[in-house]
Amino acid sequence: MNVSSKPAIKKHASLKPVNTLHIDATADYWTEIGSPDDLLKVMDTDIFNHHAHFILGGGSNVLFAKDFHGLIIKNSLPGITLISEDNRHAIIEVGAGVVWDDLVNYSLQQGWGGLENLSMIPGLTGAAPIQNIGAYGVELESVFVSLEAIHLKTGRKEKFDKSMCRFGYRESIFKTTKKGAYIITSITLALSKQPELHLDYGNLRKELTAEGIVNPSIRDVSRAVRRIRSSKLPDPSEIGNAGSFFKNPVIPKDQFRQMQEIHPDIPGFQLADDRVKVPAAWLIERCGFKGKRMGDAGVHERHALILVNYGNATGQELLELARTIQEEVRGQFGIQLEPEVNIV
Ligand code: FAD
Ligand code: EPU
Repeated sequence: MNVSSKPAIKKHASLKPVNTLHIDATADYWTEIGSPDDLLKVMDTDIFNHHAHFILGGGSNVLFAKDFHGLIIKNSLPGITLISEDNRHAIIEVGAGVVWDDLVNYSLQQGWGGLENLSMIPGLTGAAPIQNIGAYGVELESVFVSLEAIHLKTGRKEKFDKSMCRFGYRESIFKTTKKGAYIITSITLALSKQPELHLDYGNLRKELTAEGIVNPSIRDVSRAVRRIRSSKLPDPSEIGNAGSFFKNPVIPKDQFRQMQEIHPDIPGFQLADDRVKVPAAWLIERCGFKGKRMGDAGVHERHALILVNYGNATGQELLELARTIQEEVRGQFGIQLEPEVNIV
């Protein structure tokens, strides 16, 4: 092998510019890969074989709790390829390093539907299947066909179809049983040439009506989603955050009914099975955390589910705040909040 063609491995790299919480941590080693071949070369190094490793995308769903004593592999695998099309669908394969929102914009330009409700979610395409990203009533799985991934022990390329990924709410096997085992290199999606719009979530339809739009296009839906998101969610370039810090808890209907007796205004979303999804933001706000600060770690003043870094919060300080919130919510409501953010 030509040693000089291996991707460079940098020592003692700052992680502050590459995580949206702006945590000032460092990694012992850092490399960036632009092709699956690059990865195989990195896997051939002593540094990879003798240290922990972590795959990084856009860093919008990670909390670096401390310095990382190992190798960070930044995925920059490019490319959007049209695989096939007919009257109804376009099948595209997308490199894991493509910025998710660039992909959404590309699909809008082509007039292909399916991603419009997922507009403006930060991060890269390769991370989208990890937690089956979702917003405004749509989840990745609704357009997902398959993905390719490389096993980080064997170096073997493997294909996963939708059922193999076991998608759920903010979940897949890549977040549970196969956590850290693979790097996703590309995903294949089926986008629709006759889009079916999903307007029933939250105030999406209301937002369109307010704009005087009666028969929305996928672009209209995307614009409405962007407006709603901009009004609710803090921009990570202005204030460090990783979106929702916890998942919304899903509880049995009986437990929800008991809670309703004590808190008649508790919101809940009935799922297809006998369970109810409760907004974690409501539980956290009820515990009095909205807008609260512990040093530079805080709970956003407009949205209680978003933990923020006001400047120099450490990963430990944010973790401490998250634990305090979990304890209080457990004490008051008997519900264990589970982090959505990946704690490293
Ligand atoms: P990273 O944060 O870099 O990584 C996340 C996890 O995925 C890590 O465990 C990492 O190891 C793993 N990973 C990343 N890439 C790969 C790969 N190629 N192969 C294997 N493992 C990999 N999420 C939603 O679902 N819906 C939302 O509406 C939403 N809104 C958000 C709003 C804001 C303001 C922010 C900051 C975040 C929001 N998120 C949302 C969370 C986040 O944007 C998504 O989870 C996104 O998919 C993370 O992408 P990333 O590239 O930044 O992943
Ligand atoms: N609420 C409060 N206090 C607040 C904010 C919200 O009580 O400060 C209550 C309200 O009752 C509100 C409800 O929580 O109706 C839901 O709030 P919101 O519509 O803002 O949605 P969310 O449940 O907080 C989820 C996702 C978001 C996604 C939006 C839109 C999770 C964990 N979060 O947020 O995803 O963008 O719905 O679909 O499921 C992310 O994953 O990072 C993320 C931002």
